[in-house]
Amino acid sequence: MKILAIETSCDDTGVAVLEIRNSKFEIRSNVVSSQVKLHKKYGGVYPSLAKREHQKNLPLVLEKALKEAKNPKLDLLAVTIGPGLEPCLWTGINFAIDLAKKMNLPLVPVNHVEAHILVNFINGPWMKTHDRRFLSREIFPAVCLVVSGGHTQLILMKSIGNYKILGETRDDAAGECLDKTARILGLGYPGGPAVAQFASRFKTYRRRASVRLPRPMIYTKDYDFSFSGLKTAVLYEFKKRSPKIRGSKKYIREMCFEVQQAVIDVLIKKTMKAAKNYKAKSIIIGGGVAANKELRKQFAEKIRKEIPYSKFYIPDSEYCTDNGLMAAIAAYYRRKGKTKNWKKIRANANLKIGEYL
Ligand code: KG4
Ligand code: ZN
Repeated sequence: MKILAIETSCDDTGVAVLEIRNSKFEIRSNVVSSQVKLHKKYGGVYPSLAKREHQKNLPLVLEKALKEAKNPKLDLLAVTIGPGLEPCLWTGINFAIDLAKKMNLPLVPVNHVEAHILVNFINGPWMKTHDRRFLSREIFPAVCLVVSGGHTQLILMKSIGNYKILGETRDDAAGECLDKTARILGLGYPGGPAVAQFASRFKTYRRRASVRLPRPMIYTKDYDFSFSGLKTAVLYEFKKRSPKIRGSKKYIREMCFEVQQAVIDVLIKKTMKAAKNYKAKSIIIGGGVAANKELRKQFAEKIRKEIPYSKFYIPDSEYCTDNGLMAAIAAYYRRKGKTKNWKKIRANANLKIGEYL
């Protein structure tokens, strides 16, 4: 079976072709065109601008994905319908419907948050199986953390399609906090990778704790998060300094180190608490912030130390940020939801995990 999937929920235009053969996933192509340069100019994503870029990019990205996949004979199309930026989602949906009509193929609506989780099922040699019995024996219940520019959610996953949101951010997403910090420090967009880079250059052994930021909600009993206060703390800390200090590399490195660590501390604390409470067989992480090296390292260490019997899944960094492959994998598991009733396929900016239409 060959699936072509389209992803345009935020500022990346992604098209992928996934083949499923002998119970194995094989990536035929996964082309992503990022709008980083465009949004860098404005320090963030502007939906109407992003929409226009998707319209421009989609035919080119599609052509490239088909060419790389050697013009495959497709069985199924898929498209992300939410959550995300509504104008961007609609661009992908309209493009996918046109294509489905032309090719006379059914279309599977994909939930973006679920796709960030399910992309893990391509990772590692023994995960290249879609055997549901195997998954339920080895993996579920799983505690999933989706952390990106738009989402921060802890989800209890009992099986594929069976989700319960344990907690989520009450305001900004973790990635959004890093993006805003980068903007305050003048590091450009997207902030996550820039913050990570500066943080890695901060020499901790010389650390004299001159910058100390809060860990919002770290000890609350629930599984919710809040990152807008952290961003505000960054702003106050920054404003309090003289222009000379603010502009120094040492200060920027330290601030990046501290804000990144604050985000990691909160994410790890709450995820570990959920994993222990729900006796999770595995911890599954996804979303753009999961590309962060320190987060990956610290999560792995913590799990090995405190719950060594739990498995830990995190996608290769290139599959953490938005791409078409994640939508193709999600579509494979949701293929029963395919339809040629185009009116049913609508964008839903606030789609919850487990919902598809
Ligand atoms: O999943 P994604 O591509 O889009 C959304 O669904 O939001 O995530 C983008 C977010 C941005 O906030 C970006 O700053 C963050 O992921 N990000 C990172 C890293 N790479 C991307 N954050 C921290 N470290 C990184 N290496
Ligand atoms: Zn995403």
